[in-house]
Amino acid sequence: MKRIDHIGIAVPSIEEAIPFYRDVLGLEMEGEEVVEGQQVRVAFFAIGGSRIELLEPTSDRSPIAAFLRKRGAGIHHIAYECADLDDRLESLAREGVRLIDRRARRGAHGMRIAFLHPKGSGGVLTELCEGSGPRGDAGSADSPRG
Ligand code: CO
Repeated sequence: MKRIDHIGIAVPSIEEAIPFYRDVLGLEMEGEEVVEGQQVRVAFFAIGGSRIELLEPTSDRSPIAAFLRKRGAGIHHIAYECADLDDRLESLAREGVRLIDRRARRGAHGMRIAFLHPKGSGGVLTELCEGSGPRGDAGSADSPRG
């Protein structure tokens, strides 16, 4: 594991959440992106080499919509960057760790991501990601806003 890539925070409205992160904490907002596969809109704030990612559902069927109904707004997941996601997933599966994604899929910033099951990680939804590009990393098929 290389570092914490981002912390995902579920919010009912990115627009309403922005002032706290931008004005109160003084973080720099990097941009927004819609991740169609997860039915979320994501807003990014840079902090050191990591990000805070606000996650707003774009539909009632979004996993973030379900999370908000069940637990309300708050921390949704922690994402760790690793260098060898496919190998890592394979060895976790072999060790019997519960995975939501047995294979990597496409996340924001064009990264490859996979989630571990929170039941196997002390109730914390854990994301592994690979290929976190420099800021402005655009052009994935899932990021119509670039
Ligand atoms: Co994430």
